[in-house]
Amino acid sequence: MPSLPLEDNFHDLVSKAQRGLHITDQELIDRAEITPEDLAAIKAGEARLGVLRRIARHLKLSPDALEVLAKKEAYPRAPIFPRGFAMFNTPHEDMTVNNYLVWDEKTREAAVIDTGADVAELLDLVAAKRLRVKSIFLTHAHEDHVAALPALVEATRADVWIHEREPFEFPKLRRFTDNDYFHLGVVAIKALPTWGHSPGQTTFYVQGLSWPLALCGDALFSASVGGSPTHYADQVKNTRARLFSLPKDTVFGPGHGPLTTLAHERVYNPVFAPERFQSARPAALPAEGAAAAPARPVPLPKRPKAGKAGRVGEHAPRSGGAARPAKSAKPGKDGRVSFKSRRKRSA
Ligand SMILES: [Fe+2]
Repeated sequence: MPSLPLEDNFHDLVSKAQRGLHITDQELIDRAEITPEDLAAIKAGEARLGVLRRIARHLKLSPDALEVLAKKEAYPRAPIFPRGFAMFNTPHEDMTVNNYLVWDEKTREAAVIDTGADVAELLDLVAAKRLRVKSIFLTHAHEDHVAALPALVEATRADVWIHEREPFEFPKLRRFTDNDYFHLGVVAIKALPTWGHSPGQTTFYVQGLSWPLALCGDALFSASVGGSPTHYADQVKNTRARLFSLPKDTVFGPGHGPLTTLAHERVYNPVFAPERFQSARPAALPAEGAAAAPARPVPLPKRPKAGKAGRVGEHAPRSGGAARPAKSAKPGKDGRVSFKSRRKRSA
């Protein structure tokens, strides 16, 4: 079963943080006391570790975690869900995108979180397990996450839900607000506001399965975070507040890249990890025996080419790509966040 590559490598994250914090190249060079050639090398993907550590603090990134990312020394390992959860990974333009199916074994009620670009495999599983898809929950409305929505609605006739602040139009669209709850039998789904990447970007926190599960769209990726040129700080703040306060054995299901865990991201995500590992590791790692624990770093898989749409097992994704077009945001007068389209890589 192939593993998905991480969504962002170290220079993607450096550029994302720099853009989000509105720090120019010259400002970064001056503050970190590096040369223009050093910065150019970093941005070209050359892992000059001394330089990387110098610039990390100015980008509010953990130098230790950023170094691990650059050296490709850590990869997340999420526990198995024996039932009630499936992950799909489908190609969209020059990248791949994840979407998810959760269900209650007893009632056979199911919900889809995001659609990805192709729902054929998902619908096969729905039919095979005799599920009834009641709801389609959208983390946000960027095109890669909603591309197959018309096909999915036509096949299931399920209600489509999105946050009330997310700009999106669709027939019979329903709106939820912060912290709303939904239920599928004994499975509870709570809408956590993790906005910033988009105005209504939501994480669906699922309880009642084998592990607490946070399906977080582009609020967080393993070793990275959803980008935004105008609301990056909000994205980081909301992700930290809502996701890192969840139970320590929570599994994260991002919109791109591999499944991960809160325990892993707390240590290895440069955006959320402490500056230095030495003092943080004993407190950050979960208790012995916890399935979500990053017992030791494992090597990153090589980045494969985007493959065909597909589900692998009931929790594991298929090959992945990286960049995507998306949207950016600007503040509105009424306190709401308005976002405008942008062409650059969004995640
Ligand atoms: Fe997005």
